[in-house]
Amino acid sequence: MRLLVLGTGVMAKNQLRHFAHMDGVEVVGAVDTDRDRLKLFADEFGIEKRFLTLDDAIAWGDFDAATNVTPDRIHHPTTMALIAAGKHVLCEKPLAENYPKALEMTEAAETAGVVNMVNLTYRNVAPLQRAREMVLAGELGTIKHVEASYLQSWLVSRAWGDWRTESTWLWRLSTGHGSTGVLGDVGIHILDFAAYGAATDIDHVFARLKTFNKVPGGQIGEYLLDANDSFTMSLDFANGALGVVHASRWATGHLNELKLRIYGERGSLEVSHRPSGSDLRGCLGENVESATWREIEAAPVSTNYQRFADAVMSGLQPDPNFRHAANLQKVIDLAMITERERRELKV
Ligand SMILES: NC(=O)c1ccc[n+]([C@@H]2O[C@H](COP(=O)([O-])OP(=O)(O)OC[C@H]3O[C@@H](n4cnc5c(N)ncnc54)[C@H](O)[C@@H]3O)[C@@H](O)[C@H]2O)c1
Repeated sequence: MRLLVLGTGVMAKNQLRHFAHMDGVEVVGAVDTDRDRLKLFADEFGIEKRFLTLDDAIAWGDFDAATNVTPDRIHHPTTMALIAAGKHVLCEKPLAENYPKALEMTEAAETAGVVNMVNLTYRNVAPLQRAREMVLAGELGTIKHVEASYLQSWLVSRAWGDWRTESTWLWRLSTGHGSTGVLGDVGIHILDFAAYGAATDIDHVFARLKTFNKVPGGQIGEYLLDANDSFTMSLDFANGALGVVHASRWATGHLNELKLRIYGERGSLEVSHRPSGSDLRGCLGENVESATWREIEAAPVSTNYQRFADAVMSGLQPDPNFRHAANLQKVIDLAMITERERRELKV
């Protein structure tokens, strides 16, 4: 697979740590509208072809697939152009800023017959995959209750840099720059984590969103800091279970932590993922009586990057595809309406 990297920021570097060493994959070109960032990135990864616009890269055309690692609002126009050029696309999450755009991308990719995948990264967490297998095998019995959280603290800690001065954080705080806040940024991850782990779909949603005042006047330079930075959500799942999901950038003491608890009639599971690693614990069988929890082993899983490359090479569509991400985007769009109207909505 000859791969083009579109957008050469923080996440692109993360992706290249995988793609750069993969058998059968050659990273042949990079695109960024920021000349300096493009040069640093292409020099670091030894990429020969460099473009300041996607149009120039498409005119050159000597690539099979692209990974779209641009800011959220750029995903739609650039992915549509890539699909029109017949290229396979791995797109970063969220697929688009809203459901109509995400659906348009989905339909275009399906009509063109190109491989389309969204980088819901936490599918790479082995304990999540193991939990889903156990739910599907009926080991927990009927699922009654689900709890999931995604906790970050970059608004209170400088561990990842300073949001007051760095564009990679500032665009995430501003709806005018295409951000849908913590809900769109990591809400999409935790909704996928919860629904995928519990092996069900989301049926009804009610959310509360909050944007805290961060600086006097609420604005830094061109960035109006108006995107939500904490949310709480109650959900009904298609399997009948009730759920609570929440996320915040104000979770002091948690750099990046996802947690999922799935409670069934015969047993329960807890998946945890932090920068230091992931684990799975369960309370099952006779242990339910004494509420004893035990570690559960999870076999390594293939990453999204490997599965995208395999899909391009085999022609078989991988999961999670654009349609799945568009459906999650619909939940996010509805969540914003529920905040305004203060009533639950059906997905
Ligand atoms: N899957 C994950 O876990 C995960 C983690 C972090 C970020 N992301 C996603 O990755 C995407 C990028 O995030 P980031 O943190 O790397 O942002 P970033 O701001 O660090 O990098 C984005 C890059 O895209 C470039 N760019 C902007 N417009 C462009 C255009 N039209 N053509 C080409 N390049 C363009 C910018 O100059 C910048 O270098 C976002 O959608 C984000 O949500 C996903």
